[in-house]
Amino acid sequence: MKKCITPYKCHLFVCTNSRKGEQKSCGDEGTPDLKAAIKAEIKNRGWKGIVRVSTSGCLGVCESGPNIMIYPQKVLLSGVTRNDLPDIIAKVEEIVNVESLNVER
Ligand code: FES
Repeated sequence: MKKCITPYKCHLFVCTNSRKGEQKSCGDEGTPDLKAAIKAEIKNRGWKGIVRVSTSGCLGVCESGPNIMIYPQKVLLSGVTRNDLPDIIAKVEEIVNVESLNVER
């Protein structure tokens, strides 16, 4: 095993788990489209090499979903909708800016 340090300042895990309407799940509430919108915005802002957006399976907090977890900052965004895109990007921007300050010290 090789142990490395991630190249990303933060990594967004967007739960897209779908239970096909049989039980509450993030993927049934629009997260695949939201993930695509987040990825597009990350690319537009030039953060592609420092912010990663990945599809995630169930994050274990379905009832509060749809959910996005941000690591390594340990941020859980719950009840997200497409309308939250500006706030999600603002949170990522805050992380990118703080992490940049930490690197410069
Ligand atoms: S289905 Fe998304 S947290 Fe469980």
